[in-house]
Amino acid sequence: MAVGIFDSGLGGLTVLEAVQTRLPDVKFLYFGDSAHAPYGVRDADDVYDLTRKAVEKLWDRGCDLVILACNTASAAALRRMQESGLPDGKRVLGVFVPLIEALTERQWGDNSPPREVDMKHVALFATPATVASRAFQRELAFRAIGVDVEAQACGGIVDAIEEGDLILAEALVRSHVDALRRKMPDPQAAILGCTHYPLMQQAFQAALGPDVKVLSQAELVAESLADYLVRHPNMMGSGKAGFLTTGDATRVSDRAMQILRRQVTFEAA
Ligand code: DGL
Repeated sequence: MAVGIFDSGLGGLTVLEAVQTRLPDVKFLYFGDSAHAPYGVRDADDVYDLTRKAVEKLWDRGCDLVILACNTASAAALRRMQESGLPDGKRVLGVFVPLIEALTERQWGDNSPPREVDMKHVALFATPATVASRAFQRELAFRAIGVDVEAQACGGIVDAIEEGDLILAEALVRSHVDALRRKMPDPQAAILGCTHYPLMQQAFQAALGPDVKVLSQAELVAESLADYLVRHPNMMGSGKAGFLTTGDATRVSDRAMQILRRQVTFEAA
């Protein structure tokens, strides 16, 4: 019995941690495609092909439900996968919608027309591929009117995190926040639209200042998943919990241990 959690690499561990805390009785099978990370600099077809392959592996291992704990995959592949048809009894969900529902003060499944919300100036920090997809703005437009979104493509941060170079990652955060402020001097809220970025949340908050509300995606996704599993208790699957990687299992396990601060053992996917 396990729910699949997919990310291009280690960023999805921020989501895994939040869902494990929120749902201690649910088992999870994590898949990090570290051999192909970062996804954020790939084109949409490439991200789709890699995501589809990884999700199929998780389905083959008995997961009925797979969460794309990766904004880039959610932006470039989720809708296409859902539209091209899923095998019987299998589901895939992304991480965008819970965030947008929180930003627009909506309950799950509230399909009422778009309305005005308090947050008028929102900064979005995401990978180049997520920014190019405009998926965030599209989902937001279904739910809110009059929100000015300034997106900053944050090249380099994911590579630095995957390499464990947090000093470089911090310097890149500062320079991307500066670039954003040149376009939008006073954002009210900032969305960390990449699951790697919560690992740099303090650096983002410090660079943005205390008046900017930094929205944490992981907890919002955990709440949404809890709600989904109450309504679909049969989606727990039959798979075994664990950690899979397409990268070097020893190296990835070491990096994951630094992030989660506990021993985890990745196996070859
Ligand atoms: N962590 C992923 C995301 O949320 C992807 C980062 C990448 O591989 O570029 O966008």
